[in-house]
Amino acid sequence: MTTSSAPGKIILFGEHAVVYGRPALAAPVTQVHADVDVSDSSRPGIWIDAPDVSLHAELNTLPSDHPIASVINNLFFLWRVSPFPNLAIRITSTIPVASGLGSGAAVTVALTRALASYLQHSMSDEEVNGFAYEIEKLHHGTPSGIDNTVVTYAQPVYFVKDQPIQIFHVGKPFTIVIADTGIAAPTRESVGDVRRLWMNDRSRWETIFDKIGEISFTARRAIEAGKPEVLGELMNENHTLLQKLTVSSPELDVLVGFARDAGALGAKLSGGGRGGNMIALVEPENAEAVSLSLMAASAKNTIITQIA
Ligand code: PMV
Repeated sequence: MTTSSAPGKIILFGEHAVVYGRPALAAPVTQVHADVDVSDSSRPGIWIDAPDVSLHAELNTLPSDHPIASVINNLFFLWRVSPFPNLAIRITSTIPVASGLGSGAAVTVALTRALASYLQHSMSDEEVNGFAYEIEKLHHGTPSGIDNTVVTYAQPVYFVKDQPIQIFHVGKPFTIVIADTGIAAPTRESVGDVRRLWMNDRSRWETIFDKIGEISFTARRAIEAGKPEVLGELMNENHTLLQKLTVSSPELDVLVGFARDAGALGAKLSGGGRGGNMIALVEPENAEAVSLSLMAASAKNTIITQIA
């Protein structure tokens, strides 16, 4: 049997603007992960068992655009695997789906690595990342590639679309509380809506993207200089710009407000928006209080994580 695991992720700054070439910062969240086991099967076929999404099926019975089927079929095509071996694939994940924590990319990366190792195909991180980006494109329209990159490398990244990955140095660790609205919101839809806005008035939205890009740039310098306390205000500014882009939601705004009232240094939505997760920068000793306050508001779950 071979096993592989990939973490979740948060976008610290720059979502949406990153689709239009501006920089964004993202970091892995190891408290949640997707795990894949691949083993021989005594039954003919490739049997997929993914209890979190109630999937128990043979590969050929899945639609060809099914996210898991497309990973297996595309890999086997690339590797010229013929005939397909009899396999049992078990996929589990603690990353909530469609919530901005990178669940799709994590399943793709873990599944790709588990199959590569099972079939003894060596794949570099760059190859895994490139393949995962192609899969993201099949399912998400016009992704920037930030999700697959941070999940593949499992390190904090300063990401600019179509440029080589830049791993940034964290001068002083800082603590983030992540809170889930519990509302599943497909990124494809918010990204599509932003595209429609942009098509109607490019100069107006390019100005907003520029401002977001400057925030990401400033945030990276603050993180590298060991001054994470500066990030709170930058998060608040980034959230206001995301509201202008129409990708926040009443539920996200409520949680952002509660986090700030409970003493967070700043807060914003994270990821595609409209639902999913928000993040708050906190002093470590205040993390528990902010987390409790978010749960008492309307959060379905919280995670306290350190960016280091
Ligand atoms: O997959 P999510 O919800 O974390 O969002 C990804 C971030 C976006 O900038 C909204 C889209 C993208 O492809 O970069």
